Amino acid sequence: MRQKLLIGNWKMNGAKSTLLDLMTGLKSGISSLTADIVVCPPFAYLDFVRTILGQSGIMLGAQTVSHQDNGAYTGEVSATMLNDLGCSYVLVGHSERRQYHHETDDVIAQQFVKAKKQSIIPVLCVGETQKEREAHLTEAVISAQIEAIMAVSDFRAAVIAYEPVWAIGTGLSATSKEVEAVHQFIRAKVSMQQSEVAKKLQILYGGSVKPSNAAEIFAMPNVDGGLIGGASLIATDFLSIGKSLK
Ligand code: PGA
Repeated sequence: MRQKLLIGNWKMNGAKSTLLDLMTGLKSGISSLTADIVVCPPFAYLDFVRTILGQSGIMLGAQTVSHQDNGAYTGEVSATMLNDLGCSYVLVGHSERRQYHHETDDVIAQQFVKAKKQSIIPVLCVGETQKEREAHLTEAVISAQIEAIMAVSDFRAAVIAYEPVWAIGTGLSATSKEVEAVHQFIRAKVSMQQSEVAKKLQILYGGSVKPSNAAEIFAMPNVDGGLIGGASLIATDFLSIGKSLK
């Protein structure tokens, strides 16, 4: 049995006051959940969030990481800094980073390596656009995204999140059957490199997960948890999604 994992990606949302309310809500309900829980605040609030979360058991993650170690990279944050701030996880290759910041598979693979070097668990986000889906390119796109990592690293102490781009923040979610088929494909793909690692690999689904659809998606055998955007900003919704993870 793989341990279940629920990650909240807060994206560029919140202020100290609203995040304090959110965390108070999360902390009050966390003891009823059996999944591991991670929240990914904006960089600016990592330290604040760590202090408030304290010994709650909720772990800290970052939303991206630099592919460089240090130096003249204005605006970037290194894996060493994230380690220093107490991050256990970091998202790499989120579709919003790929789309708005033009992060390539090659850069994302370097970020993945930097995170692992600091013993931070990279969460590789993969997924196809609507256009790619319509052209039946889902598997080809995901293959290429995974192979870029395989060329320089492996998926030991790592997580993969399948996030169809067309489902992120749109209210549209893949059906549980569609999700399961892609997750099976991802596990088989990783298995070609390392079958033992593939068996243990946590594969999360993300894209408009909400309290009303979480249980059905999480019931799939190859879905080991969720990467939640919008619904992670509402404590009761996030906790309710967490309760569906058994
Ligand atoms: P969403 O975002 O839950 O708001 O669709 C998911 C994500 O981007 O990780």
